[in-house]
Amino acid sequence: MSSLKRVFSAVALLAMVGLFGGMSASAAPVNLGEAKCDNCHKSEDAVWKKTKHATSFKEIHRKPAVKDIIAAAGGDANMRRNAVCTTCHYTMVSATPGAAPTAGSGTSCEGCHGPSSDWLAIHNNDKMPKAERVEKTVAAGMIRPEMLYDIAQNCLGCHELARPGIAPETFAKMIDAGHPAGTDFELVSWLEGSVRHRFYPPDVTQNKEMTDAEKSRMFIIGHTGALVRATEATGKVKNAKYEETLKKVDAGARAALDAIKGQVPEAAAVLAQPTDDNARKLVAAIANKDLTPQVGKLLPPKTAFK
Ligand code: HEC
Ligand code: HEC
Ligand code: HEC
Ligand code: HEC
Repeated sequence: MSSLKRVFSAVALLAMVGLFGGMSASAAPVNLGEAKCDNCHKSEDAVWKKTKHATSFKEIHRKPAVKDIIAAAGGDANMRRNAVCTTCHYTMVSATPGAAPTAGSGTSCEGCHGPSSDWLAIHNNDKMPKAERVEKTVAAGMIRPEMLYDIAQNCLGCHELARPGIAPETFAKMIDAGHPAGTDFELVSWLEGSVRHRFYPPDVTQNKEMTDAEKSRMFIIGHTGALVRATEATGKVKNAKYEETLKKVDAGARAALDAIKGQVPEAAAVLAQPTDDNARKLVAAIANKDLTPQVGKLLPPKTAFK
């Protein structure tokens, strides 16, 4: 299973739980909602509440384009209940596993760190040694901060638009009806602005920007993930605007990888064959490298942070 399918199978199963709302307990992990995190993560929560992911909840369904987009996609006329819209615009929260999920907020903690019903108790078990806790939470579906490729794929699964579980024809129609045609998503600029929450030790009061070395790696990881996805999506969504977005994604990613392929042979392999396996090999190969000499000039300036 590709990593993307792995990340999204949980979401697809969630959607099924929604469809068969009355069904008894399902094995699929579910979102418990941001309120389960905020007691222990006050700083992260304060950042999140100011992001578009959070503020969108109160306003997006009122946008004039929504009616036409829903007509194109089909399904429930209420955006918060429409199975296509809820896949990306909301974190669907179940009060208890098996209960029909409802739109609890915009994209919240679990939209990025994974539905927590199977991992929260392990996460909160401070008697368990850290290494064991890390292994078990990942096995239970947690997307942790160091899983940079999975993080990138997860952002792109909403921002680059085409994703497993939603028919390509549906996207084509939605775009014609006025939905943005996906994004030429560059990870550093999208992660380092409003979304950034990096209260890492030793000083947990500081929301630290990435160092240049970290940015240079994140830049490559974001472009690598985007290239893999764009390659998968190309030719599937029959829409000229969307094909244009994919072309931009492809060109940006190739420029980034070209800059390092002399030093990092795994980058050349991704350029030749943009697959998930090759991408993960590249990400592993650059784990401790400072690529600033190669990509420093390509990094976005602070003014480009969103
Ligand atoms: C009972 C307190 C508590 C709750 C509830 C809690 N966390 Fe945490 N979380 C922590 C602590 C403590 C750490 C630091 C862990 C460490 O260093 O071992 C942490 C660390 C993290 C990390 C960084 C990776 C790691 O494990 O060090 C992420 C991501 C995270 N939490 C997400 C969440 C999300 C999402 C929720 C809600 C679904 C949540 N947490 C709920 C206490 C909590
Ligand atoms: C694959 C994920 C995905 C799906 C499915 C999706 N959207 Fe979106 N939508 C996005 C993203 C990401 C943005 C923001 C685009 C950007 O910032 O470039 C967006 C933006 C929008 C906007 C413009 C928001 C603004 O601030 O002007 C509207 C309106 C919208 N979506 C409506 C819908 C409706 C209605 C549905 C369901 C029929 C839907 N979307 C389904 C990902 C999705
Ligand atoms: C848009 C996606 C996204 C959302 C929403 C999100 N996170 Fe994160 N989170 C990340 C990413 C990406 C990182 C890794 C950042 C890095 O290391 O550069 C991270 C890192 C963390 C960390 C470790 C860094 C730190 O501040 O200690 C914690 C804890 C955490 N997130 C908790 C949360 C909680 C709690 C929420 C909800 C209030 C949340 N996150 C919402 C993407 C997200
Ligand atoms: C579950 C889907 C989803 C995921 C995952 C997701 N986003 Fe988003 N994001 C959205 C949607 C939808 C919007 C637009 C909301 C609107 O316009 O009202 C958005 C908006 C944003 C914005 C605001 C852009 C602006 O123009 O103000 C930023 C920045 C952003 N996302 C960054 C990220 C990053 C970085 C990640 C991964 C760490 C990520 N997102 C993961 C769905 C998602």
